[in-house]
Amino acid sequence: MKTFKSELICGAGGAEISGLDLSKPLPEKTKAELRHALAEHCVLFFRDQRLEPEQQKAFARQFGPLAETPFIKPLEGHPEMMRVVREADEKKKQNFGGRLHSDMTFQEAPVLGTVLYSRESPAVGGDTIWTNQMLAFEALSPAMQGMLEKLNVMHSAKRSYGPQGTYADDDLKSMRINASETALKETAHPCVRTHPETGRSILFVNWVYAIRFEDMTEEESAPLLEFLNRHSQRPEFQIRFRWTKGTLAFWDNRSTQHLAVNDYAGYRRVMDRVTIAGDKPYFTPA
Ligand code: SIN
Repeated sequence: MKTFKSELICGAGGAEISGLDLSKPLPEKTKAELRHALAEHCVLFFRDQRLEPEQQKAFARQFGPLAETPFIKPLEGHPEMMRVVREADEKKKQNFGGRLHSDMTFQEAPVLGTVLYSRESPAVGGDTIWTNQMLAFEALSPAMQGMLEKLNVMHSAKRSYGPQGTYADDDLKSMRINASETALKETAHPCVRTHPETGRSILFVNWVYAIRFEDMTEEESAPLLEFLNRHSQRPEFQIRFRWTKGTLAFWDNRSTQHLAVNDYAGYRRVMDRVTIAGDKPYFTPA
């Protein structure tokens, strides 16, 4: 018997977990069960948690060492944590994380997972949407799957944090972002990666950091990348979650993309985020 209750929120995945207090260390059996549930359902949600930053970090550390987020000023006193804030009177049109992406895929070893905790939620809106990239891969034709399995994709942070990137001209009102030349670096990852725990194949592209196929130009790559990204956001691959204050989400960054829906002008939204270090993506034919 499991040490917690788990309820799926939709066909694409996402499970609400109840019966656990995340402010305290978890037994080994519970951690193993959560790891298994994460690999299977992509995102786990825990409502009504009361966590200080240290407790959120301690929760995440039970699943691996924490990773620091480049380009974004961390929360004071917590180098591995960032606060995602949008003020009620924020005038800038864009919000942080408002386009589908997986976290930090521009790195050699992108993060395994992200732990996001809601400190303040809008009365209306501000949901997060994830896409299940395992389902997205499985829905492609065998011919397309076979072709993609042979390709590498170059990932880079340049469109967000490079000198000409989205965040280069000015900060969001409440978050300090340091655009820099180091964002121009490119890293190759397989277009289809193998989930290290389940062996399932994952369509490993995203709108923000996957910029071109290896040995092709951005222009040559754009039509196929655009098709794959549009395909990934089909409604049946989506997991959409309505936040309430005190909810913690833990997502598998290897098998998902996500975005913060930008529909809550006039309300404040505050989330604390930590990430768990991952390994280098690889592909092993099934
Ligand atoms: C993020 O992209 O990490 C933030 C997601 C959110 O605020 O919902």
